[in-house]
Amino acid sequence: MDAFLIKGPVRLAGTVRASGAKNAALPALAAALLTADPVTLDEVPDLADVNTMNRLLAGMGVSIDRPAPGRVVLGASRVTSTEAPYDLVRTMRASILVLGPLVARFGEARVSLPGGCAIGVRPVDLHLLALEAMGARIAVEKGYIHAHVSRVGRGTGRLTGAAIRFPSPTVTGTENVLFAAALAKGTTVIENAAREPEVEDTARLLTAMGARVTGAGTPTITVEGVDRLSGTGQMPHAIVPDRIEAGTYLAAGAITGGDVTVTGARARDLGAFLDALSRAGAGVEVTADSVRVHGGRPLVAVDIETAPHPGFPTDLQAQFLALMTQAEGTSRLIETIFENRFLHAVELARLGADVRVDGRAAVVRGPSSLEGAPVTASDLRASAALVLAGLVARGETRVRRIYHLDRGYAAMDERLRSLGASVERIDG
Ligand code: EPZ
Repeated sequence: MDAFLIKGPVRLAGTVRASGAKNAALPALAAALLTADPVTLDEVPDLADVNTMNRLLAGMGVSIDRPAPGRVVLGASRVTSTEAPYDLVRTMRASILVLGPLVARFGEARVSLPGGCAIGVRPVDLHLLALEAMGARIAVEKGYIHAHVSRVGRGTGRLTGAAIRFPSPTVTGTENVLFAAALAKGTTVIENAAREPEVEDTARLLTAMGARVTGAGTPTITVEGVDRLSGTGQMPHAIVPDRIEAGTYLAAGAITGGDVTVTGARARDLGAFLDALSRAGAGVEVTADSVRVHGGRPLVAVDIETAPHPGFPTDLQAQFLALMTQAEGTSRLIETIFENRFLHAVELARLGADVRVDGRAAVVRGPSSLEGAPVTASDLRASAALVLAGLVARGETRVRRIYHLDRGYAAMDERLRSLGASVERIDG
């Protein structure tokens, strides 16, 4: 069952609730490795990537219970392996997030190199350089990262706090250093840290576990290492709402000229995106815990350039490009984070969009009237863009390889149907 059959055009209307953020849930699950005490997480989204991380942790001996919807209780009191095997890591690059906790708590780790993906090479050199600066010995052999902290001579087997300066912000790199620094001896200062809300949420969880973190969400984060961390105790950690999922449904409301409200979404996490939606002519209304987008006026082309948070999120670039196919004028989209993140463009052109890609820039001329056709997803956010286009294309659009979508969106077909879309999951 790996295709969506979408019938368009449709005008979406209604309310959906944002799930917990995939990119905060994955580091939160990995953080359980830092303590022998139970860690309880709430609002954990039901996603393929979450299941992969749970399988990876279970393979290390971590107990994983799911006593209620959205709740995961992890126990790392009897970790039997510090290895993250290739056959799991290759299906989810975020597996690299177990590296920091393993080295921090056990002084060793053997983690498969994640390898690239459709959108880019995705190196992890900055993760490794940071851990080396904190005293880890790192060797990369036969596709695996071997990390250990020496116990020989004066070696204590424990990481040491250090001054880490990233040449450019890295989200999971910052999270891995937070994990390593939390249990290191002494102080770590991270300069040019990633400022994404998911990094802030990871720091919030670590603080609840007894870590001493200040500055999360700013370019400079300071961590005073402690000897041990506790679990979450009586207070489960609720994962922050998924701003990318929320933005995707808001883009669906805008592209169909409909009226969609996403509850649980934090507008402050979506500033640059909501600003671009407004400039494009969509009506945007914000309350304390919801965002509403409604159509009405014709869309106009606007330019965007992706950037680390708080800039325009690269994870919403594909969805915004799909939106620009319905806007009057010429839109120029610059992708500064990943080198190959326009794979959706050629598929959108199959539906009739006028898109030209030149390196890091895509130029969209609109509005185009889109005709339904079979298209193929290449990566998580590209697949979301194809679904959005299918909602406005006349006739049937079959989006194949929808397993890419399942990695980051829970029950998207059901949610879109609740907004009035005709979407069904079929065999490819
Ligand atoms: C995180 O990936 C997200 N994944 C990605 O979301 C997101 O697109 C990305 O951050 C950027 O916001 C998770 O959080 C699990 P980076 P990450 O390290 O941490 C370069 C999605 O769709 N770089 O911030 O891997 C890298 O090549 C996914 O949900 C190095 O050169 O991204 C890129 O150009 C896709 N060396 C830039 O930095 C390194 O060691 C930013 O990457 C690390 C990164």
